[in-house]
Amino acid sequence: MTDTATSGLQIRVVDHPLTRAWLAVLRDESTPNSAFRDALARLAQMLVYEAFAAAPERAIEVRTPVGLAPCATLAQPPLFVPVLRAGLGMLDAAIASVPDAAIGFVGVARDERTARPSEYLASLPDDLTGRPVCVLDPMLATGGSLVHTLDLLTARGATDITAICVVGAPEGLEALRAWGRPLRLVIGAVDDHLNDAKFIVPGLGDAGDRQFGPR
Ligand code: PRP
Repeated sequence: MTDTATSGLQIRVVDHPLTRAWLAVLRDESTPNSAFRDALARLAQMLVYEAFAAAPERAIEVRTPVGLAPCATLAQPPLFVPVLRAGLGMLDAAIASVPDAAIGFVGVARDERTARPSEYLASLPDDLTGRPVCVLDPMLATGGSLVHTLDLLTARGATDITAICVVGAPEGLEALRAWGRPLRLVIGAVDDHLNDAKFIVPGLGDAGDRQFGPR
């Protein structure tokens, strides 16, 4: 799905029997923390796979035990940026798929009363000009945390940005459209709406708490 030309947002909803099955585990309120972490990692790997479906490649030649094989590798490894805490649960799967990637960190906590993001960590390279960047955050609710992260990245020159999320709300998509810059979003599902507490409905609860326990 590609959004209007004016917004610059490209949305890829990854809807596949295996992604749906792991999403069901994540949504289930009876899934314990350990199984939630495991399911998130497995689903993240599938989403990362999709996120790189059109990644630029570089031709290489590899010597096999019996000859030379024309091969390909990523033209440029990305910078993965997990949004703490919940995005940490997607990181191992991401770097398992792209071992040459670099990693930056953004820590944002949503204020429980206002639902506005409050930054407590930004550990990123100073210059992201020309580098592909891939943001990892399972939840896209109001979109405030992701937009804050995107602003940190574009302030450092990033223009080639992909966000990988597990579940989102229409309100979050609208925030990304309003942000207005080019962005690819790879997401497992878009749910119905946000409730009064700004939680995604039906969603999967708080992905940070479900991995690590309450803050
Ligand atoms: C959650 C989630 C996203 C954010 C989404 O994090 O992991 O980062 O909220 O909400 P938004 O789209 O309305 O900004 P939270 O602030 O609960 O922190 P945590 O990951 O440490 O639990």
